[in-house]
Amino acid sequence: MKLNIRKIKEKDCSCDVLILPLFEGDKADFYRDINSLSGGLIEKTLNSGEFKAKSESLLLIHMPDKIKPKRILLTGLGKKNKITRERVRKTGGIASSYLNKMGFNKIALSTRTIETGDISPADFLEGSLLSVYSFEKYKKVEKKNGIKDFTIISNKIKKLDREIRWAEIVTSATIFSRNLVNTPSNEMTPTVLSNIAKGLKNNKISIKVLEKKDAEKAGMWAYLSVAKGSNEPPKFIILEYKGSKAQPVVLIGKSITFDSGGISLKPSEGMEKMKYDMAGGAVVLGVFKALSTLDLPLHVISILPATENLPGGSASKPGDIVMSITGKTIEILNTDAEGRLVLADAIGYAKKKYKPASIIDIATLTGACSVALGNEAIAMMGNDDKLIENINTASEETFERVWRMPLYHEYKEYLKSDIADLKNIGGRSGGLVTAGYFLYEFSDNTPWVHLDIASTAWVDKDKPYIPKGASGIGVRLLLSFLKSLSK
Ligand code: BES
Ligand code: ZN
Ligand code: ZN
Repeated sequence: MKLNIRKIKEKDCSCDVLILPLFEGDKADFYRDINSLSGGLIEKTLNSGEFKAKSESLLLIHMPDKIKPKRILLTGLGKKNKITRERVRKTGGIASSYLNKMGFNKIALSTRTIETGDISPADFLEGSLLSVYSFEKYKKVEKKNGIKDFTIISNKIKKLDREIRWAEIVTSATIFSRNLVNTPSNEMTPTVLSNIAKGLKNNKISIKVLEKKDAEKAGMWAYLSVAKGSNEPPKFIILEYKGSKAQPVVLIGKSITFDSGGISLKPSEGMEKMKYDMAGGAVVLGVFKALSTLDLPLHVISILPATENLPGGSASKPGDIVMSITGKTIEILNTDAEGRLVLADAIGYAKKKYKPASIIDIATLTGACSVALGNEAIAMMGNDDKLIENINTASEETFERVWRMPLYHEYKEYLKSDIADLKNIGGRSGGLVTAGYFLYEFSDNTPWVHLDIASTAWVDKDKPYIPKGASGIGVRLLLSFLKSLSK
């Protein structure tokens, strides 16, 4: 989509539809020119009560020929005293996805009502760009028309420019991540993922891929135990962005390109969705894609322990015991609890190799995540209050909500194995927190946070700016977090 920022009068903007956002109770004279040239159409509509500017309400009106925009879309922002950045984002999503579905090509936005206080037209744009996304790679016959050109009309171009650039970068990274997750597992194997990671290489980003034999040499038997049942070679992908000489922040993304459950096979109903078990890795790659454009003065390392989890003839079996890179032994009681096995080795590897300033892992780790929080928040656990506070701040910025869950030391008991140091499942209750506690056992003294995106990385029903399918949640959160570190 082509983006333009223009300092012109609304009536002079040639477009199919001009979006006019309004608060409840706003009068037509906000858009005086258009109102009078159209013979008072805005005023008449508002006075008739047919459009009350309630939040999420829309009304499309044709304009006479003497006005350049062919139509206007009255767009409700709701009550002025209830406005938030998220409401502006959602309004952008609702207006743009509506126009996109109608097949309009060229649209414009008047920013008069959304340029004050904490809110910004960039939030509207963010919602718009995220809402018109669709995954059409495999639609070979039916291609849809939609928005190709988006003009923002503003008097404050300089200030807006920076905010809009940020919105463009983070939305494009989110969409990059959504595309990876939506791609089916036959076309998104660990090898494909590692080639995509290689594609991000540039003068600031370097990449290294550990093959199976390298992982064996390193002693990552927990990770390798997951890969045993598949014919696809595992790839332990490492990216490094070196914008400073400081100790690195390490981002680890769960990258199971398909999770069948292994020998502890999942039920067939809904199993197709387990292509999204690499969403954590896709988030981390999205973040890296944005990093080089943003040029942040940070040292960031990403690790994607990629593999399939399949029940092949040499697959791990319940009861098997493996040793992680840290020397801790794990009794695998359920091969479907594979995420924590690959993450344990990735965390162990990161600590051993890089002495990180902090580690953040992001993973579709547990079904229990949605039992606890529904589909509304990322579950967060960690051992460092400052790091958690910083992520909370980023969460408020982006409305990618996180909710902290406890890591009570009593949970250690849940993971006690009779014959190994740990077992990989904690029993019936507390599935979300015992998975977190398992990872905590590998984090030691390094500041660490775990983000469980199992219930938010995939959306079954359209949301205002998240069409159903992969959400890309976590990309904007982590980018906002990294930006705050670089200040
Ligand atoms: N990838 C799943 C978690 C998951 C479930 C993600 C649903 C997205 C949607 C994970 O590997 C898994 O299977 N976890 C098990 C753990 C259990 C065996 C202790 C689960 O949550 O059922
Ligand atoms: Zn699993
Ligand atoms: Zn999994």
